[in-house]
Amino acid sequence: MHWRRFSFLVILGFALTIFSFACTNLNREATQTPQTPTTQQTDKPQISSLPPQTQEIVKSAGANDLFYPPRGDVRLVAISDLNSAYGSTDYDPEVDKAINLLPFWQPDMVVCSGDMIAGQKKSLTEAQIKAMWAAFDNHIAAPLRQANIPFGFTIGNHDASGAKKEGNFVFEQERDLASEYWNNPEHDPGIEFIDKSQFPFFYTFKHKDIFFMAWDGSTHRIPPDKLAWVEKALASPQAQQAKMRILLSHLPLYAVAEGRNKFGAVMANADELRQMLEKYNVHTYISGHQHAYYPGHRGKLQLLHMGLIGSGPRALIGTQVPSAKAITVVDINFNSPELTTYTTYDMKTLELIEYKQLPRFLTGHNGIVLRRDVEYKDLKAEEKAACVDKIGEQFCQNQ
Ligand SMILES: [Fe+2]
Repeated sequence: MHWRRFSFLVILGFALTIFSFACTNLNREATQTPQTPTTQQTDKPQISSLPPQTQEIVKSAGANDLFYPPRGDVRLVAISDLNSAYGSTDYDPEVDKAINLLPFWQPDMVVCSGDMIAGQKKSLTEAQIKAMWAAFDNHIAAPLRQANIPFGFTIGNHDASGAKKEGNFVFEQERDLASEYWNNPEHDPGIEFIDKSQFPFFYTFKHKDIFFMAWDGSTHRIPPDKLAWVEKALASPQAQQAKMRILLSHLPLYAVAEGRNKFGAVMANADELRQMLEKYNVHTYISGHQHAYYPGHRGKLQLLHMGLIGSGPRALIGTQVPSAKAITVVDINFNSPELTTYTTYDMKTLELIEYKQLPRFLTGHNGIVLRRDVEYKDLKAEEKAACVDKIGEQFCQNQ
């Protein structure tokens, strides 16, 4: 009897142990399931799986691992202002470093806010300009094509300036050669065009529910007929039914950098253009030319002023130290109210550039720009007074 009872208790205990183990595992699975969609950990590539030149750059970040941002529904890597001195067929090391690091981030697309070559000089010959586009192809475009990464861009003043004199383009040859390079089927940027009829100057494309427009912001004025095209494209069902709209322009709406805080270095009629873009719910205006990173906003429009990776970084308005050479990873989450998250890397040190390292607002000649995380209502009375003192009441308003 005793032996039978003992056996029964042993079997019961064994069964309970298995049952409880199974329940624990079920519970663990149940609590883990909701976390599965978060891809931030699993998405980070194994360093050993990356190309040797990428591994080398990642390792150069030192003991602190190179930061890998949580991946959005769509990931863009934004670059800008790649050129060195006039006529140059070479690039600063940060350009090659950025391109070689792309496998680490695995972007869905690379976007560029202009100045890919070093033109805008009348004495440059056709052969020299072609050699610059060949160098661009070699350093930037060909590696992107080989990696099957689409490239969306806008032209800058050093690529194909739209400056006019007596009704004619001053740099007509540069514009023709830029057009020739980009319309060569061998240089297909791999994007899904919507309207390619004026490519590469004014065009639209889409990527995973995002509508993109590139306009010719190589000069400060957009002619009325081109502006009519811009409005028509932004009002189109394809633009309006997209989950987000992004504009690529070389010149920004408002000034952010010392030395570029002047008429001609920003779009003319910035407030009018902004109101038009706000009307069509453009979310982000990505720009270059000022050579200083500043994640800003004004009214309802996000203003991503790109740092450069080429030559000649500039100090933000009111500061002395030139901005770091930088690139920005833009992660887009369609369900997030903010839509975008920026992760900006100093391309020399690979350290992150945080918002708090930058001024809370900038007072350029044609209007205030607020840092992305600062709301107008949060400005202190003395900050508003300092703005009014510098640029006057009308340029210090939020609208
Ligand atoms: Fe520029």
